[in-house]
Amino acid sequence: MRDDIERVLIAEEVIEKRLDLIAGEIERDFPEGTLLVIILLKGALVFAADLLRRVARPLEIECLNVASYHGGTSSSGQVDFLDRRFPEVKDRHVLLLDDILDTGRTLHAVKQRLTEAGAAAVHTGVLLAKDKERSEEVEVDYTGFRIGDEFVVGYGLDYQGRYRNLPYVGVLKGEIAGI
Ligand code: IMP
Ligand code: MG
Repeated sequence: MRDDIERVLIAEEVIEKRLDLIAGEIERDFPEGTLLVIILLKGALVFAADLLRRVARPLEIECLNVASYHGGTSSSGQVDFLDRRFPEVKDRHVLLLDDILDTGRTLHAVKQRLTEAGAAAVHTGVLLAKDKERSEEVEVDYTGFRIGDEFVVGYGLDYQGRYRNLPYVGVLKGEIAGI
């Protein structure tokens, strides 16, 4: 698996230090009470697991399955909600977590759904944000790292379902990603 990686972009220790800081910000920013964290599957799973264990606040976790990529290395442009049940968010302070902000369509669509469903506030957090023009401008409250506009894997992010368990964020070799 590691042979498929051209270079490590963000090392595990660097991610861990950044998560300590973001967790502190979350603890300070959210009002008293139980916050509701919504994890976008599957990409945000690793990021969320590592981040939330650092947040010393009462919280509940819900997960949502949305798809905007269908196996390739570019966005399909459409956001599909795949769950039959939508979490109860009315009057809740929500922290929505995703792995990466790319075109912005996913976070924009989910944030809108949560707001329509009556959430008191929707804060957003991503491990990575690509430095590029977005189709949808979304304000992100917590960003782990800004990266260039390139396809990355690891720490939850996949290429065709693989590489999510790499403990760092890396760039795939061109011959593997077919680019
Ligand atoms: P957006 O809706 O275009 O912002 O895309 C968000 C989703 O696309 C993320 O949740 C990822 O699943 C996927 N994605 C975007 N860029 C990458 C990447 O570089 N590697 C792996 N997945 C990506
Ligand atoms: Mg994804």
